[in-house]
Amino acid sequence: MTAPLEFSTRAHQTDEPPISYFIQQGVENPNLISLAAGLVDPESLPVEEVRAVTNEILADPRSAQAALQYGTTQGYGPLRDKIHRHLLALDGLKPSEVSNSADDIVLSTGSQQLLYLLGEVLLNPGDIVITEAPSYFVYHGILGSLGIRTLTVPMDDNGMNTDALEELLTRLEASGELPRVKLVYTVDYFQNPTGLTLSLPRRRHLLDLVQRFSKTQRILILEDAAYRELRFDGDDVPSIKSIDRTNEYVILAMTFSKPLSPGLKTGYGVLPRDLVGPLLRFKGNHDFGSSNLDQHILDRVMANGSYQRHVEELRGVYRAKRDTLLAALAEEFPPANSPLRWTRPVGGLYVWLICPPALETGPGSPFMEAALREGVLYVPGSFCYVKNGVVPNHEARLCYGVASHEQIREAVRRLGKAAREVMPMEKITMRGLAGCKA
Ligand SMILES: Cc1ncc(COP(=O)(O)O)c(C=O)c1O
Repeated sequence: MTAPLEFSTRAHQTDEPPISYFIQQGVENPNLISLAAGLVDPESLPVEEVRAVTNEILADPRSAQAALQYGTTQGYGPLRDKIHRHLLALDGLKPSEVSNSADDIVLSTGSQQLLYLLGEVLLNPGDIVITEAPSYFVYHGILGSLGIRTLTVPMDDNGMNTDALEELLTRLEASGELPRVKLVYTVDYFQNPTGLTLSLPRRRHLLDLVQRFSKTQRILILEDAAYRELRFDGDDVPSIKSIDRTNEYVILAMTFSKPLSPGLKTGYGVLPRDLVGPLLRFKGNHDFGSSNLDQHILDRVMANGSYQRHVEELRGVYRAKRDTLLAALAEEFPPANSPLRWTRPVGGLYVWLICPPALETGPGSPFMEAALREGVLYVPGSFCYVKNGVVPNHEARLCYGVASHEQIREAVRRLGKAAREVMPMEKITMRGLAGCKA
């Protein structure tokens, strides 16, 4: 008999990512319309743009060899320069107004790798990371795997409630646990999963808090701005990074996955300078550099203007899909006589649905079972909360990224049917809807 494999503590702490559940559901039920997967719109992927620059790269032996060789651990310099200029333009700043440069940028295999490596370089088991409730569940997975204590603060229409954060930090200081706090994680633009954005006053308050509470050790903000460029309504708000003029307190994590193509799987971080070297040592051990060919492709797509044109086009695509989803929800669950509520994102890919508490949405709930029978899948809201905190079980994340307009309308019809199957609307009470726009 073969001796059993002995796994690491880390392996034992690592849960199966919820995404496996959705893939399994999709495989078992091919007629399913998924509003669960956080995928981008397939029709608008930049096929022509990427084909053109890839042909260019491969047509010239010198550029082909440069792109097909290993790159550097930090990432292709010309692309980092372009990213730096691009970020300055997004925040309307001149180079002289910031204290970071392309040297503080690290390219990664998606921003997901950056999130993971930051955990390795900054966090010890038992350290505290503070996140929004709800938040990006894949990040919770990383924290769990690293043995981190994740504490949460609630959100409202203006994003993370920074007054609640202040109270939490004050309590942690009083109990002597402040030295364990390393990071505050925020998805501050069109949050995954709620679609909500952190307001400018809250951005300032958040930065002020980490500065004030950085007593024995620096507390960093991990600003995950994956969706920032997908704004389709209203004015942009400056990144927290841009408010941190000394470049000491904020790690900005961004990605080409959402505004261009997840298949290129390229993300990047702008780091406080004293974090760059330690992070690169980890990344060196991990892979000594992300895909060099992808970085050369991205460099050209940014240089020839097709990146900017593409993002502009995507904004229109997602605005239209958001409108379709909101209109379908309003038709299926008319606000005047239905207690269901939902957010109205002005960018990104997600709408957060809030049902009355009696209409549970979690795996195995009558509603989810009915939805699966009808052929529609959503992310149960409970997946987006850390397990050690309060876990509401009556919310859902709906993604309008990948489904077509017709599929979005049909998916919402199916959700309506499922809801009516398990619970007549007039019996649903109006409790638990605070902080949610109809
Ligand atoms: C909030 C957030 N951060 C990071 C990522 C990681 O994306 P990628 O690794 O493709 O850059 C995602 C992907 O869905 C996300 O939603």
